[in-house]
Amino acid sequence: MKLRYGRIIADKLDGEHGLPRARLQDLAERFPAVLSEVRARRREGEYGFYELGEQAQTVAAIRRFAEGVGQAYDHVLVLGIGGSALGTKALINALRPPAWNELDDEAREFFPRITILENVDPISVAAALRRIDPRRVIVNVISKSGGTAETLAQYLVVRSWLDEALGQDAAVRHIAFTTDPSSGPLRAIAEREGIAALEIPPGVGGRYSVLTPVGLLPAALTGIDIEGLVAGAKRALERAERGQLLENSAALYAALHWAADSWLGARIHVLMPYSDRLKEFAAWYVQLWAESLGKRLDRRSEVVHAGPTPLGAIGATDQHSQAQLFMEGPFDKLISFIRIEHPGEDVRIPSREGLPEELAYLPGHTLGELLQNEQEATSAALARMGRMNLTLSLPELTADIMGELIMYFQLATGFAGAWYGVNPFDQPGVELGKRITFAAMGRPGFTKEAAPGSGGPADTVE
Ligand code: PA5
Repeated sequence: MKLRYGRIIADKLDGEHGLPRARLQDLAERFPAVLSEVRARRREGEYGFYELGEQAQTVAAIRRFAEGVGQAYDHVLVLGIGGSALGTKALINALRPPAWNELDDEAREFFPRITILENVDPISVAAALRRIDPRRVIVNVISKSGGTAETLAQYLVVRSWLDEALGQDAAVRHIAFTTDPSSGPLRAIAEREGIAALEIPPGVGGRYSVLTPVGLLPAALTGIDIEGLVAGAKRALERAERGQLLENSAALYAALHWAADSWLGARIHVLMPYSDRLKEFAAWYVQLWAESLGKRLDRRSEVVHAGPTPLGAIGATDQHSQAQLFMEGPFDKLISFIRIEHPGEDVRIPSREGLPEELAYLPGHTLGELLQNEQEATSAALARMGRMNLTLSLPELTADIMGELIMYFQLATGFAGAWYGVNPFDQPGVELGKRITFAAMGRPGFTKEAAPGSGGPADTVE
């Protein structure tokens, strides 16, 4: 994986915008303090995801489960939300052929179909339960806390659907939980009912957990090379130990984003892969960057309201949507492209009799060439317009590279937390909304929580 960052530097842009080259040196000189802070916090037990490069036992246990019990099912139904769903969606999107669920058994090599229910939108849930055969499903309920309202409400619905179809005893054999090893309601249910329950390491929070059983179990069940994922993650972890900023790609990614935001007002951080297979990865990144860095308080408990706004885009599709804004709108963005050098398959553009002359340049090329050229052209055009951008180039998109890419972004987020001076592992801001929901749903102890302004004039219009 290579990071090309030249087009963030002022002398590679329009001469007016971008990071003055001298500031790179400034960042490099500040980096040892950032690295020491990260290392100190690791010793104190934060940054638990650093342990995920070595998990031979977990991987072997998941592999046994997938190849044993897992073989009995032809549909995996994942229930989870936020960090308990987005990473799995990214893995399936990247590493399973497109339209996986529409393929026949042979094309799927007899691995199961998969449905990931994140939301509690009744339309999606009811439709999924109509579509799936309860006799052939394994339901993987994923929740680190074990008590998230959306996931647990889904569980209750799905559980009663299974009980009705199969009877309570048989239903238990169709369920696997992935949750904290000792605490939370899901763990308590597992123990009471003898439901299989995998463990999420206590030090790894939701949005950093895709390379734990959270993502590894659904990945293994659907035939993804989980050993490769972990091997790639290990490589990223090793590289992130490098002490020089300009040799430590994940740390540099974080530093450049922090500098672009803090020094140059580039508060919007766009991730734009030129691959449909990384569309869900971009959504995963958006949650990781937003929930980790968007904070009211810094580490010293001072009010800072920190946090860049992450945005996902897909090339070349969004060249015809958001790119106009990127090119000519405010100078408030840093755009990070991801390109895959050898995507594994290509499609030749054929010629055709009577083709209008203005289309004659297309035949003889491939769709892959067009995509790659468009990425380079967009990057170059942005640079000419004074727009900072960088490119992460992946040699190919295998499980190994995907593991590396995921860990790279987790590492970058961990480093960014230190640059921004915030705790990248908590999410106090989402708690208030939860408490108001609990109040609305009548949960005991939460009746006093009310939304500000409730009870006043309606302030609505038709
Ligand atoms: O990153 C996070 O911590 C959150 O996005 C959680 O993953 C999300 O809120 C779901 O939490 P849980 O896994 O406890 O159900």
